[in-house]
Amino acid sequence: MHSILVAPSILACDFGRLHSEVDRAQDAGADWLHMDIMDGHFVDNISFGPAFVDAAAQVAKVPLDTHLMVTRPDHYFPRFIQNSRNITIHVEADCDVLATLKAIRQAGISCGLSLRPKTPFESMLPFLPYIDLLLVMTVEPGFGGQPFLTAMLEKVRSAQKARQDQGLDYRIQVDGGVTLQTGALCVESGADTLVAGTSVFRAPDMKSAISQLRNLPRF
Ligand code: DX5
Ligand code: ZN
Repeated sequence: MHSILVAPSILACDFGRLHSEVDRAQDAGADWLHMDIMDGHFVDNISFGPAFVDAAAQVAKVPLDTHLMVTRPDHYFPRFIQNSRNITIHVEADCDVLATLKAIRQAGISCGLSLRPKTPFESMLPFLPYIDLLLVMTVEPGFGGQPFLTAMLEKVRSAQKARQDQGLDYRIQVDGGVTLQTGALCVESGADTLVAGTSVFRAPDMKSAISQLRNLPRF
């Protein structure tokens, strides 16, 4: 069983103080830092690109987990390889998904695959043997600070069941609206990797927010 990891989402930090925000999150016990890349096409927002990730990497001591919400991850992923420990792409992307997952692994890092709330879990099935992480979006991707979609817990359970039935080993990550309350439901359902933006960066005590998430009771 994978240990629970907490990955604060940099999207929720104060961009004007990037280095000190990265330090604040890692000093508070962040396991990974989650980097949300949005191209203004795959989602209705533009976040930041490789230069910003390079800037974060200058001070990051923990692995960077890069989530590509872009239409052409096959074209852009090489620009994030150097600073990422994991790169996650979307099953809805306009590219050869399997070839892109394989190319990410070939570059020496782990690969993840995600799906939007409206995409059925079955669309992930052909790719499960080729991924290191399965990311269930628990909000519509594009913006931080949205309410958690409880109906997505069914996908977390499907991901857990498929992993067990097929003898696979991918991490199950959730992203969007994760708080102590909704995180508990995710962990109960089988999630082991929790992305949290607002609830961690805006917490009165970030260290306690992270450690409480990490210590939620397992399913
Ligand atoms: C949403 C992003 C998330 C976002 C989560 O498109 O993928 O990573 O930053 O932020 P919160 O935790 O505030 O919902
Ligand atoms: Zn994300």
